[in-house]
Amino acid sequence: MNKNILITGGAGFIGSHVVRLFVNKYPDYKIVNLDALTYAGNLENLKDVENAPNYFFEHANILEFETLMNVFEQHDITDVIHLAAESHVDRSILSPMDFIYTNIIGTVNLLTAAKNYWKENLNTHRFHHVSTDEVYGTLGAEGLFTEETGYAPNSPYSASKASSDHFVRAYGETFHIPYVITNCSNNYGPNHFPEKLIPLFINNIIHKKPLPVYGKGENTRDWLYVIDHARAIDLVFNEGRNGEHYNVGGFNEWKNLDLVKLLCKLMDEKLHRENGESEKLISYVKDRPGHDLRYAIDASKINKELGWKPSVTFEEGLSATIDWYLQNEDWLKHVTSGEYQNYYTEQYSNR
Ligand code: NAD
Ligand code: TYD
Repeated sequence: MNKNILITGGAGFIGSHVVRLFVNKYPDYKIVNLDALTYAGNLENLKDVENAPNYFFEHANILEFETLMNVFEQHDITDVIHLAAESHVDRSILSPMDFIYTNIIGTVNLLTAAKNYWKENLNTHRFHHVSTDEVYGTLGAEGLFTEETGYAPNSPYSASKASSDHFVRAYGETFHIPYVITNCSNNYGPNHFPEKLIPLFINNIIHKKPLPVYGKGENTRDWLYVIDHARAIDLVFNEGRNGEHYNVGGFNEWKNLDLVKLLCKLMDEKLHRENGESEKLISYVKDRPGHDLRYAIDASKINKELGWKPSVTFEEGLSATIDWYLQNEDWLKHVTSGEYQNYYTEQYSNR
């Protein structure tokens, strides 16, 4: 059966890679990208697929329920892959309400539109909710997040994502919406907005600006190349079992400071700077409030059930990512003008 897939947040970082993969891999499916084009959404990310005959763009906000209903009707939407969200922890500390609106109310709007439109033959449809490992809270030095780990979110961002996950489950249980949820670790790669650690530091190294490491840089994250996340979403969307969570991770834990030092070394090589030059930019600043110490994913379920594993090593992925930023300085310039400057000042000037 041909599908008409609504991908929300497709102009953002991960969404654009998912849209590209689906447009190219499934020429018989209609791919509808719905995005409000907030500061994080950028149609430049999709230049290479915008003229594909199976690609459609809807400039819309998931907070507008009537618009969502119209999009379902107009495109006869059969499936949803939901990525639209406010996604940055630091912004969630500055303005939690934006996260409550988009991540919780927006998700419930989308679920309700799907429920209203998919009246019959529910099992021919699927709602794939893209979530994060941050819903599980924080780990100490040992252990991994499994799909059975209890939810214990610590930031307004992770609390809003946890809430959205619960609503997806509730619509599954109560209204029989067939769903899957993926909970993924930190992504990195091309088109990542330079407010998150890796692209922010790449941009600052290029411009020889300070690298603001929170606290002592001891917090640990598991990093996954964005294209491997898109591959995981494709697999779970097509082959995952209804009502299941799948954790997705890179088997790739790094303490922030070690990661920043590796980034500095690679950038010095690529920019033909003296070894050690970029490391001098490291500046320890006030810690993030509620800063989760460690995230680490047990991705054995998706590996055993669906055969997924990362396709690139961290060294390969990071090197390709840096090359992309060095080759796309116009993209960087474009997204760091305007509102970005206000955010940067608000976030970093008093640390
Ligand atoms: P992003 O911030 O780069 O992109 C979000 C996109 O959603 C943007 O294109 C934005 O314009 C759009 N959007 C925001 N509010 C909207 C609204 N009200 N209506 C319609 N569109 C709206 O985010 P990302 O990093 O690509 O993350 C995508 C999804 O993956 C999010 O749900 C996030 O929670 C999840 N996730 C992200 C990571 C990560 O490391 N970035 C890891 C795991 C899960
Ligand atoms: P981030 O990329 O914001 O992702 P998340 O908070 O969702 O894991 O941050 C990754 C890690 O880097 C996190 O431990 C916070 C830290 N960090 C800094 O030390 N300095 C910064 O300027 C930023 C943005 C993050």
